Amino acid sequence: MAATSDQVFVGSIDQGTTSSRFLIFDKAGEPVAVHQEEFTQIYPNPGWHEHDPDEIVKSVENCIEGAIKVFEEKGFSKDSIKAVGITNQRETTVVWDVKSGEPLHNAIVWTDTRTAALARELKARPDSDKLTDICGLPISTYPSVTKLLWLLRNSEKVRKAYEAGNLAFGTIDAWLIYKLNGGPSKNVFVSDPTNASRTMFMDIHTLKYSEKMLDFFSYEFDIRKIHLPEIVRSADKKAFGQLSSGPLKNFPIAGCLGDQSAALVGQKGFDPGSAKNTYGTGCFLLYNVGEKPVISTHGLLATVAYDFDGKPVYALEGSIAVAGSGVKFLMHNLGFSHASHKITELAETVKDNGGLVFVTAFSGLFAPYWIDDAHGTMFGITHHTERGHIARATLEAVCFQTKAILDAMEKDSGHKLNELKVDGGMSNSTLCMQTQADLVGIPIVRPKMRETTALGAAIAAGFAVEVWKNFEELKEVNTAGQTVFEPKMEEAASKKMFKKWERAVTMCKGWLAEE
Ligand code: G3P
Repeated sequence: MAATSDQVFVGSIDQGTTSSRFLIFDKAGEPVAVHQEEFTQIYPNPGWHEHDPDEIVKSVENCIEGAIKVFEEKGFSKDSIKAVGITNQRETTVVWDVKSGEPLHNAIVWTDTRTAALARELKARPDSDKLTDICGLPISTYPSVTKLLWLLRNSEKVRKAYEAGNLAFGTIDAWLIYKLNGGPSKNVFVSDPTNASRTMFMDIHTLKYSEKMLDFFSYEFDIRKIHLPEIVRSADKKAFGQLSSGPLKNFPIAGCLGDQSAALVGQKGFDPGSAKNTYGTGCFLLYNVGEKPVISTHGLLATVAYDFDGKPVYALEGSIAVAGSGVKFLMHNLGFSHASHKITELAETVKDNGGLVFVTAFSGLFAPYWIDDAHGTMFGITHHTERGHIARATLEAVCFQTKAILDAMEKDSGHKLNELKVDGGMSNSTLCMQTQADLVGIPIVRPKMRETTALGAAIAAGFAVEVWKNFEELKEVNTAGQTVFEPKMEEAASKKMFKKWERAVTMCKGWLAEE
């Protein structure tokens, strides 16, 4: 199908934890071309997780090239692409030299738990209990700050750059924007509030760096000596610069959103009270709370949903560290299968979990529990246990944690959700989505087009260059062909299952306490 002359498109870079992608969306929100590339996952020690920052940039460049090829083969012209948006894995920490633009260490990935002791140290410092009110996050291994402090303490290269005043720190969005613009020669060094809010340096109320937060973390190294990206709106025609090479050379980057905020936008969760749950590498439930942040008292995070026009919209977030990565663990570490859909098929070979509960706390346990020293633990193994039960318990773990998050969200917001929109790889599993509906007792709504994260970044960029002018124009986008999973299980049975999970959670911590 060739493009008509008035057809316009928006490109979207989706830089996730395990792969990079480039998608090209038409104005109806349909992806017309896509290219995806996986990159190396580096696990140097138990609990450590790194990425090569240069490999990430290369993978993005390859994806742009690949998708443009498909796009042109379909008869479209790249000149009909009006802008490019970026969405990315959040918190992952990159450090580089401002002069050379070269990375000084592998990126430390958001899942990495090497900073558990450092997090404990920070929690013990005076006024540590006041930080969440400012930045929306609790101290844990999860935000970027602990990773940055670890690098300053443990990498000589990083410390030397710091001492020379040449150390730059950024999350993946800032790194990509900097590199795709051409690095030090252009020095486009920016981040948007949905990403900056995950560092612990940003005041969530003002969307500016917080002096109090910078003071708190400057007891050993002066954070103000480090180059931090400027925080700009999520949709902006100029601030993100333009691509400096490749088939889209000189095309503007016009939007940027952390991937979970992007998924909320892609699901059109623009009204307060709407929510989505994305089952990717991890799983993240975001609930739109409107124009004021809600600081959780039940283990959730306050985060920025988007800031398109200087009127930021906020979300309450429940973060689960292990979702698709649990499925990958069964595939790659335990050799269960070579394809993720086969894990669901395996889980379907048994009628229930056979008494098995798997707390997949490979990165500690995130929301709403925040147990940094939790470890992956399986309870209830007997001679009856088969691989099918393990597969089923792995899928169920995400559903249980989602149920705990929804309970916390209800307490924080005073509202009960009447449905939950879902997306992400694991949402392809009908068994998993039915289990989710059974456990939370509300309908689970799965759209037909599940590239919502990439669509969200395209929407941000599209707003900046007026491909879409307002939310009204997105009304018809991604509405056709939803699947609704209604709860089917008896409430008593669902409660009983969840009780077992809660018991298992109380028993999965402190394993390394004696070491
Ligand atoms: O906070 C981490 C998150 O942004 C990673 O998302 O899609 O890679 O699980 P994902």
